[in-house]
Amino acid sequence: MTTTAVLPYSVQWDNSHITLLNQQALPAITEFIELHSVDDVYDSILTLKVRGAPAIGLTAAFGVALGAKQETSTDLGEFKKNVKRHIEKLASSRPTAVNLFWALKRMENILLAAQSIATAKEALELEAKAIFAQDEEMCRKIGEHGLSLFSKGDSLLTHCNAGGIATARYGTALAPFHLAKERDFPLKVYACETRPVLQGARLTAWELMQAGVDVTLISDNMAAHTIQQKQINGIIVGADRIAANGDTANKIGTLGLAILAKHYGIPFYVAAPSTTFDLTLESGASIPIEERDGAEITYIQGVRVAPENVNTFNPAFDVTPHHLITSIITENGIITPGFAHNIPNFVK
Ligand code: MRU
Repeated sequence: MTTTAVLPYSVQWDNSHITLLNQQALPAITEFIELHSVDDVYDSILTLKVRGAPAIGLTAAFGVALGAKQETSTDLGEFKKNVKRHIEKLASSRPTAVNLFWALKRMENILLAAQSIATAKEALELEAKAIFAQDEEMCRKIGEHGLSLFSKGDSLLTHCNAGGIATARYGTALAPFHLAKERDFPLKVYACETRPVLQGARLTAWELMQAGVDVTLISDNMAAHTIQQKQINGIIVGADRIAANGDTANKIGTLGLAILAKHYGIPFYVAAPSTTFDLTLESGASIPIEERDGAEITYIQGVRVAPENVNTFNPAFDVTPHHLITSIITENGIITPGFAHNIPNFVK
């Protein structure tokens, strides 16, 4: 991996490699790194250099295209077996965001249908580019639908980073704020810092400030007080996997915010593209929840903040039950409760 100049998108396909905004280095350093192998892509997803459900999926898709391009086998069967191994490796990087598996399935279907190695390489590259373009389009539409729910001057609270850098562009939960900024539609955002790895403090605060959006950072334990004191009009978050009944997995801490929204009688919105739905799962109880290294809790930015050998529990996501969700904002429109019945009208 090497460092290059600043680029407009956080994930970019450069024919012989992928160029990635290193989200682990933000906000101290804005650096773009080059990924030259499937191993680089796997490592970048695992170590959160790229994170956020849609961004993981489209980066993995480019990873498959990259791996295929680098295959030297001249036998179609062997080529397909090798690329399938790349797909399996990338699928083992993180378990919760279904966008990863959705994107890899699309790539696998292209691989299986290919009649020659040359056409496979070309078609896989085209498919990854199509996944990227589709994500950008979906996020813009989510922004439009999301913005229709807000009034000028509203204050919204968000968690983690469901922004442009977590997607091809615009983001999901943050898309309405990017569009509002383009349109001179004033909105105020309160961003929870999002322990343990601070996606809110490091990424959402950075991204919204870059865009000129009015953002105020709070630590996670300030959410209740902030809702009570600052006339928060609603909470909007992204999602990593939404089950058929509307139960939603998102960054750890989301569930607590949904409970707070209920208590204070404010809306709780989930913003996600159709690619984040997993209609094979009846409820959130079956969503696999990633558990990460306890060092993410015992250290903050390399500094130990807890006794050595303390027991830790570090789930990266939680599941918000559907009855706490006011609506789910997708590219196809806004889904209202009665989710089990209504979701199929928006997500095929
Ligand atoms: O662990 P992360 O940073 O990948 O978790 C990300 C989130 O939980 C986001 O809210 C979600 O993926 C939506 S990103 C548009």
